[in-house]
Amino acid sequence: MSVALNLHQTPHTPHPIPHSLSPALKSRLATPLNIGTVEVHSRVLQSPLSGVTDLVFRRLVRRYAPQSMMYTEMVSAAELHHMRKLPKVMEVDPGERPISIQLFDRRPDFLAEAAKKAADQGADTVDINMGCPVNKITKNGGGSSLLRDPDTAARIIETVSAAVSIPVTAKTRIGWSEDDINAVDFARRLEVAGAQMLTLHGRTRSQGYNGTADWSWIAKVKQALAIPVIANGDIFSVDAAIDCLEQTQADGVMCSRGTLGYPFLVGEIDHFLKTGERRLPPTVIERLRCAQEHLRMLADYKGKSGIRQARKHMAWYAKGFDGAAELRDQLCRIESVEEGCGLLDEAITVISPELYRHSLLKPAIV
Ligand SMILES: Cc1cc2nc3c(=O)[nH]c(=O)nc-3n(C[C@H](O)[C@H](O)[C@H](O)COP(=O)(O)O)c2cc1C
Repeated sequence: MSVALNLHQTPHTPHPIPHSLSPALKSRLATPLNIGTVEVHSRVLQSPLSGVTDLVFRRLVRRYAPQSMMYTEMVSAAELHHMRKLPKVMEVDPGERPISIQLFDRRPDFLAEAAKKAADQGADTVDINMGCPVNKITKNGGGSSLLRDPDTAARIIETVSAAVSIPVTAKTRIGWSEDDINAVDFARRLEVAGAQMLTLHGRTRSQGYNGTADWSWIAKVKQALAIPVIANGDIFSVDAAIDCLEQTQADGVMCSRGTLGYPFLVGEIDHFLKTGERRLPPTVIERLRCAQEHLRMLADYKGKSGIRQARKHMAWYAKGFDGAAELRDQLCRIESVEEGCGLLDEAITVISPELYRHSLLKPAIV
């Protein structure tokens, strides 16, 4: 199975009138999120995104959401076992908190060894990937294939929890396929095994990133567990976060594709949950300036490979104005920081003055 990366929004309900949280939920969410012994002062989390949530991206997200839990890209416990040096995907900024390092594999002993390294790196929690749908991962028994092997999944949580003193959490999906949804039983097994928090993406493995996330399964899992349950899937806006939290009664939401080219989203939702006020979204110009900064930071951090990696980010930022498609096309081929920043500068000078005003542009419409 190849997994298509669907970047289009799939809104659950249209929002002609922006709405707010019910008072009961509002007061519950005003308290810290307790992940075992770790106290987090935000109910909005930035998900792990392979190829995206490196140290540079997290710095940008954290600027607007300083108290949110963030995740590294998933790290292969097997590769780590054979490496002398820690891979770049495990790097965290000195003092970067709260931070979780996410690991994948199917072997409890490899994962325990990797978790110790994650703890040494300063991770506040270690998260086990039990949701990745990609063939390369599932054919070796990792990621979402663990949904079909709950015994091993539980053993992983037990073994890793025994190996480290930081909390162990898991991120998974609602089931393997539409005919094989086992979210509630699976989640209970992980909780009994010692998981301190569960993030649930409301899609099956077969869905990949298509269709709509089914939040009703998240509500069922939330009812069944005592540990915090974080809702994930289709959180593209403050309104989607409100809907999801009301429907699921989850302990928080995790943003994913909505943050691509839009590192403001976690902060916007966090700000709303804390204050009841909506932060003005950035103007198109501000987004393009952020793209320039992102490009410079990636080049500083990763050199040439950072520039190659920045191409997709630049394309995600460039939308919502005349000529955006052409600009994206050019940004996808940049070879240097100067070239990328020059293209963005040119776009900024010709953008309609209309767009200097705060736009209502939503993230993740590519
Ligand atoms: C480019 C990309 C990379 C991803 N990498 C990871 C990963 O490393 N670990 C993980 O648990 N999930 C990963 N995911 C899944 C997301 O964290 C999230 O569960 C999923 O996108 C659903 O949320 P959304 O509908 O808001 O995008 C990835 C998703 C995308 C699109």
